[in-house]
Amino acid sequence: MDYGPAPESTKEAQAWLDQHERRFGLFIDNAWTPASDTFASTNPADGKELAQVTQATSSDIDRAVEAARRAQPGWVALGGHGRARVMYALARLLQKHARLFAVLETLDNGKTIRETRDADLPLAARHFYHHAGWAQLQSEEFADYRAVGVVGQIVPWNFPLLMLAWKIAPAMAAGNTIVFKPAEFTSLTALLFAEICKQAGVPAGVVNIVTGDGRVGEAIVNHPGIDKLAFTGSTEVGRIIRQATAGSGKKLSLELGGKSPFIVFEDADLDAAVEGLVDSIWFNQGQVCCAGSRLLVQESIEQRFYTKLRARMDNLRLGSPLDKSMDIGALVDPVQRQRIHGLVESARLEGCTIYQPAACEMPADGSWFPPTLITGASTSAGIAQTEIFGPVLVAMSFRTPGEAVQLANNTVYGLAACIWSESISLALDVAPQIKAGVVWINTANQFDAACGFGGYKESGFGREGGREGMYEYMTPLSEDARPSAPVVEAKGSVKMAEGDSPFAIDRTAKLYIGGKQARPDGAYSRAINGANGQFLADVGEGNRKDIRNAVEAAHKASGWAKATSHNRAQVLYYIAENLAIRADEFAARLAAMTGSKDPQREVQASIERLFYYAAWADKYDGLAHQPPMHGITVALNEPVGVIGIICPNENPLLGFISLVAPALALGNRVVAVPSEAFPLSATDLYQVLDTSDLPGGALNIVTGSADELAKTLASHADVDAVWRHDGSAAGCAEVERLSAASLKRTWVGGAKGRDWFDTKQAGGRAVLAHASQVKNIWIPYGV
Ligand code: NAI
Repeated sequence: MDYGPAPESTKEAQAWLDQHERRFGLFIDNAWTPASDTFASTNPADGKELAQVTQATSSDIDRAVEAARRAQPGWVALGGHGRARVMYALARLLQKHARLFAVLETLDNGKTIRETRDADLPLAARHFYHHAGWAQLQSEEFADYRAVGVVGQIVPWNFPLLMLAWKIAPAMAAGNTIVFKPAEFTSLTALLFAEICKQAGVPAGVVNIVTGDGRVGEAIVNHPGIDKLAFTGSTEVGRIIRQATAGSGKKLSLELGGKSPFIVFEDADLDAAVEGLVDSIWFNQGQVCCAGSRLLVQESIEQRFYTKLRARMDNLRLGSPLDKSMDIGALVDPVQRQRIHGLVESARLEGCTIYQPAACEMPADGSWFPPTLITGASTSAGIAQTEIFGPVLVAMSFRTPGEAVQLANNTVYGLAACIWSESISLALDVAPQIKAGVVWINTANQFDAACGFGGYKESGFGREGGREGMYEYMTPLSEDARPSAPVVEAKGSVKMAEGDSPFAIDRTAKLYIGGKQARPDGAYSRAINGANGQFLADVGEGNRKDIRNAVEAAHKASGWAKATSHNRAQVLYYIAENLAIRADEFAARLAAMTGSKDPQREVQASIERLFYYAAWADKYDGLAHQPPMHGITVALNEPVGVIGIICPNENPLLGFISLVAPALALGNRVVAVPSEAFPLSATDLYQVLDTSDLPGGALNIVTGSADELAKTLASHADVDAVWRHDGSAAGCAEVERLSAASLKRTWVGGAKGRDWFDTKQAGGRAVLAHASQVKNIWIPYGV
């Protein structure tokens, strides 16, 4: 028996397009601009034009940003409840017009109606409902924060409306106003959304929709009136945006590519795993950033699993996306088909085995690609490392769980992973070892507004959804209170360490690497003079090699990340205790270096700050979410990894402790560059550290030029994050710019200083968010 055709009617969608004479302008300040300089939006399933869409100009972007800026105070003044009502109305209207949206999305994108109807639309509506709730609760739950301001949002074509919801809902909830750009292939549902914004009573200027290609994206990115950018798309463009925004003070979140592993252990329910794989790689034709595109199968079941998989592939139905019984629709554009074809052919030339169902017929018109399984690729082959963004699965095997983890992490990306095993103990042991922002256990491609989504490594940074997603659209109030950073000149001079006066060697503080004092590689040191000009000591002049050694030592100290939080707290308390014993000595040093009149205050505040983060170490817990699924999603706060920290000059002891302690508390390993002008409070800490049970390599200290050492840290591929808070605006910009190469996280203070005595201004609890990244582990129950 075969399936009969079950086409969905396009009548309503066509009527909507006709009503607009199939020509669309931009939606700015709740009004349509006349269509001009238009380009075609086509249906990829048949190549026919659907409508003409406007290529926005830079003056259009100016107008959109101005409208958003004008609207922002009023949108905030509406209050959380006011915004919640508007967002609730949007959610209701999305539901009311769900079928129209779903059909329009299918026409414009080529994805099947089954998916737009059952996944994209319900999830988009849920996003607005959930975030209406955050708007309502904002004053209670985020009392110490304000909206960032005007946000620019740029999305790709693979989930046009859903990505819109992911971007616009949290931004609106927090009180921001928006300039939103859909992808050039798929603008239509965003334009329909603009229309329902008016119906829902969204005030003019709160949501502005501008269409066009990458040049429009660039204009948004570079616009000085934008306070925050949220981007989803290719890693390549993400990198460009990171560079373009470096030093601009714009807040940034990037959700980029992936090459996510789908791991099948020998004890998995293989039939269920095959179904999971269908959802993982053939959902949306594989044009999914978190698609399970790398299949890792345990060797003992490899051939059995492939046999089942090929049989299932033979049954996948490819054809008109409007037909409700189709599994696979059209690719978004012939450009993508060409790209995917090229990648598969290069794998064939490299000797890989390519399987495509024989009976899979491609429709004559449009942009199509059959489900494809590639075996026989080496782990480093292009096809195993490049994001294909199509219905192409690359499979390889592993022997042990350890090898599975190693292969899973053998990628520059870190967006998602699937683990299939009937052993909950095995699955929950493997999940935290995988460097990815989302892990699905015995399920795939689950999303929910309550659960954060986002990547590790070159998959970007920041989260969408959940509480953590809200923080991306808010600024701590304490940042507004910060003063300009005082300019503190380093007073020392660089000279050779050896061969100086006989006393110089004794008075040269070395570096602290791997738990040991180490001579600087270059054998240079710099003299540190006191407040009244007298020579105090020399400190080592660290260079690139010293940073490399420190980073290596930090990586070796991976045990610190695995230590229990109780244990980490104890070590921090112990450091505080040992510092307290030497409080007078540290106070004398501070007075001599900085001329401080009340150095004891800084020492005591440093001790208290150590207590503060020790207290948090075992309390900064994750969350358990209950999304609409029979199961639980566990959001874990994981350490970021190795963090390079450039410490401030003002309050050299307290500033150092305020940044280093929270990083250590959450299990990060640190390479710290102490105050360039006043490094001796940090070098004096070596002995305190030696007696405090901190494992060697967990904290490494390299003294020297802040600019030089920051550059090395920011361009080091194995450093996961760099923080710079020494008040150097140019230095902070440089850190952001250099971080683009490996897309490491950055947290910079720019030209703002802080009152380091004030816990909130020093960062308080918010620092812990910079020191961690959330991993959401989805665990469904039931058989
Ligand atoms: P893309 O990254 O070029 O485009 C995404 C969005 O960014 C679009 O709205 C585009 O107009 C805009 N854009 C392009 N250049 C820009 C610039 N310089 N500044 C600001 N905005 C800019 O992605 P594209 O070309 O659509 O797809 C290429 C490849 O990227 C895909 O084959 C896939 O591998 C990957 N990709 C990954 C996605 C993900 O969700 N991770 C989504 C889309 C694409």
